[in-house]
Amino acid sequence: MEDIIRINGNKKLNGEVVVSSCKNSVVAILPSVVLASEIVKLYDVPNIKDVQILIKLLRLLNVKVTADDDELTIDPTNITNIDLVDEDVMKLRASYYFMGALLGRFKHVRMYSPGGCNLGPRPIDLHLKGFEALGAKIKQEGNIIEIDAEELTGDDIYLDFASVGATINIMLAACFARGRTTIENAAKEPEIIDLSSMLNKMGAQIRGAGTSEITINGVSRLKGCIHDIIPDRIEAGTYIIAAAACGQDVTIKNVIPQHIEALTLKLEEMGVNFEIGSDFVRVYESNNLKAVDIITQPFPGFATDLQQPLTALLTKAKGDSHIEETIYIERFKHCNELNKMGANIEVGSGDSMVHGPTSLTGQDIFATDLRCGASLVIAGLIANGETIIHNAYHIYRGYDSIVDKLRALGADIK
Ligand code: EPU
Repeated sequence: MEDIIRINGNKKLNGEVVVSSCKNSVVAILPSVVLASEIVKLYDVPNIKDVQILIKLLRLLNVKVTADDDELTIDPTNITNIDLVDEDVMKLRASYYFMGALLGRFKHVRMYSPGGCNLGPRPIDLHLKGFEALGAKIKQEGNIIEIDAEELTGDDIYLDFASVGATINIMLAACFARGRTTIENAAKEPEIIDLSSMLNKMGAQIRGAGTSEITINGVSRLKGCIHDIIPDRIEAGTYIIAAAACGQDVTIKNVIPQHIEALTLKLEEMGVNFEIGSDFVRVYESNNLKAVDIITQPFPGFATDLQQPLTALLTKAKGDSHIEETIYIERFKHCNELNKMGANIEVGSGDSMVHGPTSLTGQDIFATDLRCGASLVIAGLIANGETIIHNAYHIYRGYDSIVDKLRALGADIK
């Protein structure tokens, strides 16, 4: 596939778009299957690069994965705990969920450190402290991490920051730990609820997911299950923002409105014209948008993953929008590319100021990470003329069929 997305902008979007299942759920769910002793079936699995890589890693572990359309059958009954020292491990962040899952199942894991989007420093100290609290010993040599435990025993673990990854990894490692583990100041993201509800179907004893205190009572075995993954709130938000930018009448379907309230309330403040249904959001043509201030925060605060896409829309809003990024202070690489298109954005240390409105013109620009890519796609839809987005592979990591979905709405995109 050519690694470029071309957009002829300034076309009105109309029609319906169906949101796929959630990337950040499925990327935790797939590694978690190594905890099962029976077959797991997953429905509505999104067709994204991160999923393809995780399937490859599961196969390296001798887990049988068969795909039928968007349904995956995963059979871990003959799993072998080999070292995951394959370069694919470093292509995504979520490969680190194999640490918690393999440690939980085998009390031993040896693998490369994870990669993922370059958003500035992304330490995993909280994950490792959690494993140590359960009784594991950690060795790091260069890029390889080895974690061993004679036995895992439940403990009370306080997270200094409500980290999504650390919460999930500790949950995975604790499923088979002796006794009870509590995670205090746990992350509350919907993806954590989704994973815990799947693990509970498999026989785990996890309570409190979605609150800041999660307890896990260890069990000795997990069986198989069938699981439907929740819709992707960030993909939903991205299409809602795109529709606010250049839609006439666009319905975004397969949405859980409670998952995107921070976004929809901000859009209301901006003057975007939309209605919210039980499982959809319908966006109408919106003019005279107003600037708003954003502070990214853990869920239910404004999602950092939507900060970059929203910035593209804010270039159309009148006034100065201040964006403070508290999760990844360097997540502003999209601003440089938007400025090449005619935006007027100043980037500070952990914040940006979007001076609007400005009109955007198509340019050759570069996606530097997944949500930067989404931001540039929205900018390309708004802009006059042709936008060429290079390094589009970042976008395919997390957006299922984005080009086809936007083309079906009337975008001139390929
Ligand atoms: N942090 C630490 N130490 C740790 C773990 C995290 O200091 O041990 C810090 C990070 O450096 C960061 C903050 O805590 O500043 C948040 O990290 P968190 O662990 O919550 O995020 P993550 O698990 O690395 C997931 C998503 C991200 C999303 C964030 C925040 C996955 C695979 N990734 O990352 O998604 O931005 O939560 O919601 O679930 C994306 O989809 O584009 C994406 C980057």
